[in-house]
Amino acid sequence: MTLPLITTKSEEIFAAAQKLMPGGVNSPVRAFKSVGGQPIVFDRVKGAYVWDVDGNQYIDYVGSWGPAICGHTHPDVINALKDALDKGTSFGAPCVLENVLAEMVIDAVPSIEMVRFVNSGTEACLSVLRLMRAFTGRDKLIKFEGCYHGHGDMFLVKAGSGVATLGLPDSPGVPKSVTSSTLTAPYNDLEAVKQLFAENPGEIAGVILEPIVGNAGFIPPDAGFLEGLRVLTKENGALLVFDEVMTGFRIAYGGVQEKFGVTPDLTTLGKVIGGGLPVGAYGGRRDIMSMVAPAGPMYQAGTLSGNPLAMTAGIKTLELLQKPGTYEYLDKITKKLSEGLLKIAKETGHAACGGQISGMFGLFFTQGPVHNYEDAKKSDLAKFSRFHRGMLERGIYLAPSQFEAGFTSLAHTDEDIEKTLAAAREVMSSL
Ligand SMILES: Cc1ncc(COP(=O)(O)O)c(C=O)c1O
Repeated sequence: MTLPLITTKSEEIFAAAQKLMPGGVNSPVRAFKSVGGQPIVFDRVKGAYVWDVDGNQYIDYVGSWGPAICGHTHPDVINALKDALDKGTSFGAPCVLENVLAEMVIDAVPSIEMVRFVNSGTEACLSVLRLMRAFTGRDKLIKFEGCYHGHGDMFLVKAGSGVATLGLPDSPGVPKSVTSSTLTAPYNDLEAVKQLFAENPGEIAGVILEPIVGNAGFIPPDAGFLEGLRVLTKENGALLVFDEVMTGFRIAYGGVQEKFGVTPDLTTLGKVIGGGLPVGAYGGRRDIMSMVAPAGPMYQAGTLSGNPLAMTAGIKTLELLQKPGTYEYLDKITKKLSEGLLKIAKETGHAACGGQISGMFGLFFTQGPVHNYEDAKKSDLAKFSRFHRGMLERGIYLAPSQFEAGFTSLAHTDEDIEKTLAAAREVMSSL
């Protein structure tokens, strides 16, 4: 890319968008508020790349916020979608594709014996909370500071990236009565969870968490944290829920629960299992899932749930991920990127820390280590903004917030990573 970056058309379109949609977007982080400057308006995507409406090409580390793990518009997915389109976009009736994807999910994810498909990660998390409460007969919930579980009222407490980015501690419009049942603890702090259980005996339905955090930047669990939560929830008759909307089929084919060998009672999924179409899912132990209507009394429904297009894109994406060497490749290129960024930061005199697992990574402009959201907030946000803009100007599209994880895909090549690192060296040298 040649400097300066020309984004005249993006600017025009975004100016018009701001009169039409709140903030010019349909999901807040896209507006670049936390990094400043104008967002670029996308025209098309392919493989590891995106093109904006001015014709600029970027190496993409957002991947539609996770789904594009095989690279954008993979021909297998697109061709299968074209065939599916001819048969209809929505049935609102049983279709065999639902069975196929359900079987694939059940085979892959250790905790899932039965699954229900919905249309987004938010819907999956809202539904799983209702199920946790229905099954236990308890109302309270423990979540972790900086973890995001969609925009359901009772999750909008210390909810990470999008909310953090806007500087809203909670959102207006969320009744206190709703969030009063939401208890929060710092991530990686088992003692705090123990204390909450002790203070609320017999009242806590369960614990929900991102088993690797992506919504406060990339924060992995400390050794023993997930295992400790498994023990504590069992001891207290509460359910353990892994929100694997981001990590499912990304960290490993079976998600974080496969990678770390800790099996929750329930799991939420989204992003990758929809292959770029709108999907979410929740699933888990058969005895718990049997409470969901119409098998049981807990009501949850959806006009477009399990629609043939989303199921098709999900099936094809998971088939691609089953090929040998997939996760080894993701790990290899992402490690090269993450280690490279940290080395460059050090050599150019910036305090930084970060890491990666499989195709998910993060870089904080703080010495670290970062174990939780409070640690993440010590990052130099002004520096991150300058870094983000500098990378954008050099054709590298990073998530526009310090509090977001980055994603690679099977389409990213060694050369892409090298170009990215060369750009990072230039930018960091000038910060
Ligand atoms: C961990 C996690 N849970 C839930 C959600 C909500 O998913 P959606 O945006 O599809 O509603 C997200 C979205 O980024 C997420 O990262």
